[in-house]
Amino acid sequence: MENLSFNEYISLVSEKIGKRDYPMTACVHSYGCQLNFSDGEKIKGMLMKMGFGFTEEPEKADLVIFNTCAVRENAEDRVFGNLGNLKRLKEDNPEMIIGLCGCMAELENVVERIKKSYPYVDIVFGTSALDRLPKLIYQKLSGSKRTVEVGEYNMPVEGLSQLRDSSFKASVPIMFGCNNFCTYCIVPYVRGRERSRRFEDIINEVEKLVQTGYKEIMLLGQNVNSYGKDLEDGISFSELLRRINNIDGEFIIRFMSSHPKDAGKELIDTIISCDKVEKHLHLPVQSGSNDILKRMNRNYTVGQYLETINYARSFISDFSFTTDIIVGFPNESDEDFEETLDLMKTVGYDNIYSFIYSKRSGTKAAVMEDKITDKEKSRRMTRLLALQREISTEKYKRFIGRTLRVLVDGKGKSEGFMTGKSREAVIVEFEGDESLIGKFIDVKITAAKNWAVTGEIIK
Ligand code: SAH
Ligand code: SF4
Ligand code: F3S
Repeated sequence: MENLSFNEYISLVSEKIGKRDYPMTACVHSYGCQLNFSDGEKIKGMLMKMGFGFTEEPEKADLVIFNTCAVRENAEDRVFGNLGNLKRLKEDNPEMIIGLCGCMAELENVVERIKKSYPYVDIVFGTSALDRLPKLIYQKLSGSKRTVEVGEYNMPVEGLSQLRDSSFKASVPIMFGCNNFCTYCIVPYVRGRERSRRFEDIINEVEKLVQTGYKEIMLLGQNVNSYGKDLEDGISFSELLRRINNIDGEFIIRFMSSHPKDAGKELIDTIISCDKVEKHLHLPVQSGSNDILKRMNRNYTVGQYLETINYARSFISDFSFTTDIIVGFPNESDEDFEETLDLMKTVGYDNIYSFIYSKRSGTKAAVMEDKITDKEKSRRMTRLLALQREISTEKYKRFIGRTLRVLVDGKGKSEGFMTGKSREAVIVEFEGDESLIGKFIDVKITAAKNWAVTGEIIK
């Protein structure tokens, strides 16, 4: 098959689709982290250019793409189950194209299993092969058999059109891959080494987003604080934040994730001095035990972690922190777990994202001895969640009486209520209507719950 450019393949597919009696529709389902959802938006952007319409239901689609996550091995079976369900649909509609991409597509055993047992999966492409999608679809529409494009972590191509899920919140990846090799984590194996986007490309993208009305810019990377270390222009993550902060307009800059070993004083100074940067830091600690942190290969101690927390709080005494915690890492002792609970109390996180350790083959932790039972792990998780509910309720009380600037997100849980997020990354509920979605408003806080604060709009 000839080797044409990206745009030539887009035109060829669009020509083919244009000649059909009925339009082609695509169903793209993304799983996992925000970086993967951002890839999903790029996939949809390319499909839109090729002339596809969209549906959320695989039953109504001519092209189904599962954009997968590989963090939890036990989620693999669900993906294979979903693929299995498509077999019947494809029998009814033999022209249906089925694709698998994302992080699972980078795993050899997954590709082998597809080749062996899922003959009706037509295209498989890895996390670094997004821009090859038009070619893969063209080949498929031209009658070729299955194609698999994985491996080779190149710098992703710039300028792919993107069909964004929101008209006011935008994800902007600033770097891809990860160099950290935490022992429990598969990400470095499925996303390759760290590659930073050129600073000019990021600034251009953010400028355009702000000009078209975007109000929240979420900068994404597995470890945003190592942004730029692979480039020669000397622009660090803090410098990038400062330069984005200089772009005109009212918008908020958020970012994740920060690795505690790289998030230090300069980052805190930047957050404090840049008015558009959220006054909040998501700082995944994973465990409150130095022994576990060492076995996780996290490269910091609890003491060093607390130094960053204390430094931030020397400027803003109630500076907001959130974190990720893994419960039940191999052979996590009662004492290790208690240390995690102690750390949660010491820091007083506004919110945490907690995960029961899930063994992931291919990682170092997968071969570590683990005598802790699943029952014990769930018991620990229950305790941890109960403690965090207490902490959150207590912490959120500090906002009562204060006025928070909130970007309105959507409908709240109760009728007539809306929700949004403040600069401190706190969820705020208030009475209002849908006309406020995507706007900044001021809300005077009157009460605290264990997951949000509530208040009244100030006109
Ligand atoms: N790069 C980010 C997070 C990537 S994955 C960071 O370093 O913070 C998101 C979260 O999933 C991790 O923070 C971790 O808490 C969790 N996680 C990753 N692998 C896991 C596993 N094998 N079992 C349970 N949780 C895991
Ligand atoms: Fe995974 Fe650690 Fe990299 Fe985060 S920093 S993606 S947890 S290896
Ligand atoms: Fe994200 Fe899951 Fe891949 S967390 S990077 S989608 S393995």
